[in-house]
Amino acid sequence: MRSKVKLRKKTKVFLKVPGSTSNLGPGFDTLGLAVNLYLNLEAESNDKLQINVSGEGAEEIKREKDNLVYSSFQEYLKYVNEPCFPIKLSLKNEIPLKRGLGSSGAAIVGGLLIAREMAEKKLSNEELLSIAASIEGHPDNVTPALFGGLNVSCLIKNRVIFSRIELSKSLKLAAVIPDINISTKKARAILPKSVNFKDAVFNIQRVSLLINSFYFKDFDNMRFYFEDKLHQDYRKVFVPGFDKAVEMGMKAGALGVYLSGSGPTIMAFYRNKGNIVTKTIADVFNEKNISWRIVYLKPVLKQTFRNIMT
Ligand code: HSE
Repeated sequence: MRSKVKLRKKTKVFLKVPGSTSNLGPGFDTLGLAVNLYLNLEAESNDKLQINVSGEGAEEIKREKDNLVYSSFQEYLKYVNEPCFPIKLSLKNEIPLKRGLGSSGAAIVGGLLIAREMAEKKLSNEELLSIAASIEGHPDNVTPALFGGLNVSCLIKNRVIFSRIELSKSLKLAAVIPDINISTKKARAILPKSVNFKDAVFNIQRVSLLINSFYFKDFDNMRFYFEDKLHQDYRKVFVPGFDKAVEMGMKAGALGVYLSGSGPTIMAFYRNKGNIVTKTIADVFNEKNISWRIVYLKPVLKQTFRNIMT
């Protein structure tokens, strides 16, 4: 007798999802920009779960059911009420882990996108984004991971509302990545439960002016707008030399120097003299005997994922 079990169509999915730099100084949990470091994913249905990983952090990335790509894949199927199934997953990762460059946001978005390709029910990008933000706990990395670009985002009743900011082509970006591991969990645990009224006002003023100066491509006073009182002062205990690195980077001509995401990466926006800016920041880590690497990044302005089904 023929089985009534519906055979899953053999589907192969290829995707690339960008990493991101978030917060941008005063925009805690709000601002995020996609950058050209990618998580490359390949997936197909399989008779058992098989996960191959290469690239950045390959030795740390889990190969079992609790792999973040696969657990996000499962979340999608649970959400649309479809049975879970095993896949063969290959990950080629370019995004340094636990460095504040959006590796978990990219993994979550990647897992959800794979599930959407393979599931019967196709959720919209907006629905998918809201699931991604509920897994991640905040929307600022998953929004650029899914849509690209620089975005202001916010969670309202479990739904992500976001708005794109156009970025001037003359703005450049470089990351000085120290060899320090900081999990977002640890970096969030150190934040206070409440903030001082003056500090809140300080951030509201700067983030509003920062968004306006991106929007109007007015860089005159931009150097004042990347300052923050809500998270960097608490998190800098994990990044020896942080204050000096910001000061030196700014003196060397940066438009803004800040802790990327929850750190420890120090990100610099600049228009000229990028190599001097990064060198002065790296010199501070040299003084502290902390090894580092410098990566010159490009903003990713469009949605990058593509998929090929066979
Ligand atoms: N906005 C988040 C934070 C980004 O600063 O904790 C980390 O992924």
